[in-house]
Amino acid sequence: MTDELTPETPDEDEQPIKQRKNGLYPGVSDELSESMRSGWADTELHDLKPIEQAPHAARRRAALSRRFPGDRLVIPAGNLKTRSNDTEYGFRASTEYVYLTGDQTDDSVLVLEPRPNGAEGHDATVYRLPRSNRENGEFWLNGMGELWVGRRNSLDESAALLGLPCKDVRELTGQLSEATGPVRVVRGHDAGIETALTDKVTAERDEELRVYLSEARVVKDEFEIGELQKAVDSTVRGFEDVVKVLDKAEATSERYIEGTFFLRARVEGNDVGYGSICAAGPHATTLHWVRNNGEVHSGDLLLLDAGVETNSLYTADVTRTLPINGRYSALQRKIYDAVYESQEAGIAAVRPGAKFRDFHDASQRVLAEKLVEWGLVEGPVERVLELALQRRWTLHGTGHMLGLDVHDCAAARTEAYVNGTLEPGMVLTVEPGLYFQADDLTVPEEYRGIGVRIEDDILVTEDGNRNLSAGLPRRSDEVESWMAALLGKQS
Ligand code: GLY
Ligand code: MN
Ligand code: MN
Repeated sequence: MTDELTPETPDEDEQPIKQRKNGLYPGVSDELSESMRSGWADTELHDLKPIEQAPHAARRRAALSRRFPGDRLVIPAGNLKTRSNDTEYGFRASTEYVYLTGDQTDDSVLVLEPRPNGAEGHDATVYRLPRSNRENGEFWLNGMGELWVGRRNSLDESAALLGLPCKDVRELTGQLSEATGPVRVVRGHDAGIETALTDKVTAERDEELRVYLSEARVVKDEFEIGELQKAVDSTVRGFEDVVKVLDKAEATSERYIEGTFFLRARVEGNDVGYGSICAAGPHATTLHWVRNNGEVHSGDLLLLDAGVETNSLYTADVTRTLPINGRYSALQRKIYDAVYESQEAGIAAVRPGAKFRDFHDASQRVLAEKLVEWGLVEGPVERVLELALQRRWTLHGTGHMLGLDVHDCAAARTEAYVNGTLEPGMVLTVEPGLYFQADDLTVPEEYRGIGVRIEDDILVTEDGNRNLSAGLPRRSDEVESWMAALLGKQS
């Protein structure tokens, strides 16, 4: 890649007056700087329509405003993070900012300002970088100039798109430093904004804002459910892509699987919603195996846990455990079918009015029964469940909320989530698994190194649930037929 024209920040005292005044740096002739100032077309866009999220974001801001009357609320999108020198990691705007604006622009900040004179409600403004200035050369001499990073929307364009007034973010820290009255900020995204607010906020009050924004997302609206379905549909296609290249993965490594799924994620969406777990053979027993540098062998299982994140940043979270050669062995099938049965019991327990924990309990019971039946743990089942002995092999909780974050709503209070009650519009994963570690001496040798998880994304409906990821087969014989069809083989 090319280097920026901008050298190290020059020593002010050594700069000729003319260059300081123009904001220019050495090595730039007057003639070039003059040339770069002019001769550019006016590209301002007019008559822009609001983005699809705009009315939904407005409704969410109104609810936020009602929850925190009289407080100034500051919700940053976050900043770029340096990878090395002038190279940054890919940017992903904060979930809270995206939820409240539909926007994803780095360095932006949403501010809800209480209306003056005790009037009810807040005025919302998005602060963001405007178009680059061409007069002072920032558009081509600064690494964040539009010539380097691409055209930004003007403040007027952004206002039309987001349905919100937009102002220059470079004025914000000064304004916040001088502002009086109670303030709350979502922490962890923008150190500059937090520094400007140091003396005005408390950790406790900021945490209340974070918790509210997590709990507000527990029930999804129609737009969000549509986006989650899109994420899942792309994910289904990504799994199909992977099955078609299993021979190439065998010739290379798990990386071929990761790269294949990632291609689908980048072409149809924004990214993967989390690091893809492409775990062949005994790697399937490592819950978050994301190194993906292992060998792929016929006769082993592939546990693929992956999700496409849409351009609006909603993610799927789906797992299938596939026989790499297209057919489960007898033992693989026995373990797979047990997990399938457990997942069926879990999904059946997802309905409005049920406790969040019910589907976990239903799934765990089936797995405990199987472990007792196979002689791996001493019964009775009630004793196993009471002492949670099955967890040596089931390892993790059976599911979580899903949305903008893969583990969505994570800051919600226990009573609003883990100890809460399911309601229509919630979307959660049901993902039981059985994992026999390669070095687990308590199970027969043939079990060791086998890991199975099946994970689906389930919407709670008015009268039960809908499996958003039903497009991917789950039953062992259906998985085999699906693989055979994709590979053009007789099942
Ligand atoms: N992919 C992480 C999880 O299933 O929770
Ligand atoms: Mn997963
Ligand atoms: Mn999950």
